[in-house]
Amino acid sequence: MRMYDIIMKKRNGEELSEEEIRFFVNGYTKGEIPDYQVSALMMAIYFQKMTKQETLTLTLAMAESGEMLDLSDIPGIKVDKHSTGGVGDKTSLVLIPMVASCGLKVAKMSGRGLGHTGGTIDKLESFDGFVTGLSLEAFKKGVNTVGISLMGQTADLAPADKKLYALRDVTATVDNLSLIASSIMSKKLAAGADCIVLDVKTGSGAFMKKEEDAFALAKEMTDIGNMSGRKTIAVVTDMDQPLGNAVGNALEVKEAIETLKGQGPEDFVQVCMALGTQMLIAGNVAKNEEEARTMLKNSIESGAALQKLADFVQMQGGDARQVYSPELLPQAKLQIPILADKEGYIKHIDCDEIGICSLLLGGGRETKEDTIDLSVGLVLKKKVGDFVKVGDTLAVIHANSKEKAIQATKRFYAAYHIGTEEWKKPAIIKGIVL
Ligand code: URA
Repeated sequence: MRMYDIIMKKRNGEELSEEEIRFFVNGYTKGEIPDYQVSALMMAIYFQKMTKQETLTLTLAMAESGEMLDLSDIPGIKVDKHSTGGVGDKTSLVLIPMVASCGLKVAKMSGRGLGHTGGTIDKLESFDGFVTGLSLEAFKKGVNTVGISLMGQTADLAPADKKLYALRDVTATVDNLSLIASSIMSKKLAAGADCIVLDVKTGSGAFMKKEEDAFALAKEMTDIGNMSGRKTIAVVTDMDQPLGNAVGNALEVKEAIETLKGQGPEDFVQVCMALGTQMLIAGNVAKNEEEARTMLKNSIESGAALQKLADFVQMQGGDARQVYSPELLPQAKLQIPILADKEGYIKHIDCDEIGICSLLLGGGRETKEDTIDLSVGLVLKKKVGDFVKVGDTLAVIHANSKEKAIQATKRFYAAYHIGTEEWKKPAIIKGIVL
């Protein structure tokens, strides 16, 4: 078999066989096929697309390119959750303790943030001592005892995807439906959970800017998961403005703690409830939506979900006192309000730009090697649909440098669009894809 023929076949719009897909995935992972040939193939796929069968085969080949975690010795149904990413997306921090306190086993792989979107691992590292580089034994122990384990992606998990994603990133071939779906799902399948609940974001802060594209991605991923024998459900949710109010690592952890105390922002609570409901049903912990919602509400009202977060933090080496005393979490030196310079209704927020404000303050990474300042970010006080008068606080910037705060403030003003007509708040939950 020759790589040249595979490239030409796809360039001409033909369907690749399983043997051909496995040949290039395995050859590329082992370093036997050069970047330039795989780049050409990625571009051919970008234009000619892949069939559902090709996408499934690519997913399985990438998943099987490294270790496939076997969690079968943990009793019960294990559920994983994945978000396609966005700004202020601290959902896992609330969702995981909530569903675990209802009796669900959560075995989760998470990533770090890159660019304007944050990562769950960075957020959790706001707790002093928190460790995510777990051995498989420690990972399983967490699920068996506390009911939750979370670890960073190991080098041996879907290594083909790691190489291919890095190549796509520099060859303008990231935003193809089949390639995104297979990339995400290869890691999820390799991570070993029985059920997968996906949060597919749509809007100005998401990969999928258009709702129809988000639904198409959701369908592609649920089909891959279900065809591979893992029960997979997707919830399409709004990311046209930051989720909740806090953007920035420790600030988001504080908002998650507030939410676990029953005082979370409405939009964020809605997303946690929608995903939590699907997780409890998928894991056979609740029979239907009504029962799931009641269980989730009780987990907050009884304090069980907050206690579960503390147990989880402690199990992973973190300082659990910070859950009950969030003022002990990293705190920026400066807190600077940004005031409205005109009156009207907030009609749009450029979501990506708010993520970039946090990045400029030091809260994100431009490259994988950058270190981040966990304490900085923004807390929004007004969101789409809210009315503001001149001088009202739109947001508070948390910074450790005046210069960076000035830069972020300029960017912030350009991202907030205020109009004179009344503006409706957007729907947060766009739909469910099975
Ligand atoms: N996230 C991934 O893991 N892969 C993609 O291709 C896009 C987003």
